[in-house]
Amino acid sequence: MDKNAPIGVFDSGVGGLTVAREIMRQLPEERIVYFGDTARLPYGSKSRRTVIRFSEQIIRFLRTKDVKAIVIACNTASSFALEEVRKEVDIPIIGVINAGARAAVGATKNGKIGIIGTEGTIASGTYADTIRNMKPGVEVFGKACPLFVPLVEEGLLHDTVTDEIASRYLSVLKEKYIDTLVLGCTHYPLLRSTLARTMGADVALVNPAYETAVQLKTLLRSMEMNCDAGQNLSQGEKYQFFVSDMAEKFRAFATSILPEEVKETIQINIEEY
Ligand code: DGL
Repeated sequence: MDKNAPIGVFDSGVGGLTVAREIMRQLPEERIVYFGDTARLPYGSKSRRTVIRFSEQIIRFLRTKDVKAIVIACNTASSFALEEVRKEVDIPIIGVINAGARAAVGATKNGKIGIIGTEGTIASGTYADTIRNMKPGVEVFGKACPLFVPLVEEGLLHDTVTDEIASRYLSVLKEKYIDTLVLGCTHYPLLRSTLARTMGADVALVNPAYETAVQLKTLLRSMEMNCDAGQNLSQGEKYQFFVSDMAEKFRAFATSILPEEVKETIQINIEEY
């Protein structure tokens, strides 16, 4: 396997860019091929079987780009599909759950952890199971927050509507006296300031996007698969973006959250894979 090959990153849409952004920050030499399944989102309200099928197709597409490793940036796809797809691929593949769970276990002092995510992520119980396997006895409380994704996509990151919805969703977790909250959905790191204010200063917020980039870095180093430094690639050579629909809308959103302007996003027919 070519150590200078790109890393494949995928999500149901734009949200996984929060993971791509962390990889760009923490592994600035690495190339990325990103796929956002904008034709078929949201994944958060779909069944396990459907999310597994979509993930398998995307992995087949990413393999055509000769990626050296795959990151499932989507929490829902990580929850439902990681174990299933891992059986079928012979390159390293990681999701966001393990890194987020490990950071939460490290952060909690009172052993009460809250998880927020899509309906699928919370119903799957994957975060809770992973955390309890890492540290038996920890109490885990999940809460689905389905309105957060559209609020972020509407750009209402700092808005009284978002404050109101956050306080309604999070009140059940505050009542449990959690001291750690996992932002278990790609979009939630973009609501960090609202969530921090709502939960109060005593609650640690865990961002699985950040933790996943840390895990990826460790993994590539341990396998001696990290890219050579100083390749001087242009932005277009280094980062490639593919979607299944609405390429221009994706490009504009990506430009708003990534450090550099995204010049091109290519639409493909994912059903062909
Ligand atoms: N990317 C999804 C996740 O992290 C959120 C958006 C969706 O439901 O597709 O779970």
